[in-house]
Amino acid sequence: MRLAVISDIHGNLEALEQVLADIDRSGVDETVCLGDMIGYGPDPRAVIGRVQKREIPCVAGNHELAVIDPACMLEMNLYARISLEFTRGMLSGKDLDFIRRLPPFLVLHECRFVHGFPPDSPIEYLSRIPQNRMRQVMGRMTENICFVGHTHLLGRVEFDGTDLKRTGFKGDPLFLKQNLRYIVNAGSVGQPRDPDKRAKYVIWDTKTKTVEPRYVDYDRRKTAGKIRDAGLPEIHAHLLL
Ligand SMILES: [Fe+2]
Repeated sequence: MRLAVISDIHGNLEALEQVLADIDRSGVDETVCLGDMIGYGPDPRAVIGRVQKREIPCVAGNHELAVIDPACMLEMNLYARISLEFTRGMLSGKDLDFIRRLPPFLVLHECRFVHGFPPDSPIEYLSRIPQNRMRQVMGRMTENICFVGHTHLLGRVEFDGTDLKRTGFKGDPLFLKQNLRYIVNAGSVGQPRDPDKRAKYVIWDTKTKTVEPRYVDYDRRKTAGKIRDAGLPEIHAHLLL
């Protein structure tokens, strides 16, 4: 089975449409979304609409939580808050109900899916977890593979019961060894935080036991223009270019 894992779309419709087209061309059987469909970008409703139309299972990201929980909104930085106030103003009652029903994690096909860090945190960043805690949590994982988003980067942590290996990955597919435990960071579709500005997602192939990073071009200037036209913070347009 080939499972596409997409994350951190952040209201970027142009990126999502090209990623979905790439998924359609790539022999993917199923797609899962790791949250943060909204925030930063100009098209939160259209992005939610695409995810719903395709019936893509999705967990809650911290940006989803922020539009339904004022305490979570207060945790956000200024630019994220400005874009989330804009986003909340655009969303319908039905969109907000959909967001309220998003689970904190999913377990599908013997893998766990969570926005930030296992077992169920939408807030913690994989990159900031100390080694000791990482060992503890990975030692208690009930699945061998957990996919996370939130950092917007591609990366993996490998744990053999004693040693931890943390690396980024790009280019070649990553082979996941049997009986080891992994946390795989799936990158971001719509808001890059690395020099490669293309949309990114991964495909987990259960037959070849590989995680393939996918890089997808889209019309970044168009999205950046929409961010500026909407009066959203310039930084979120700048980061796309
Ligand atoms: Fe995000």
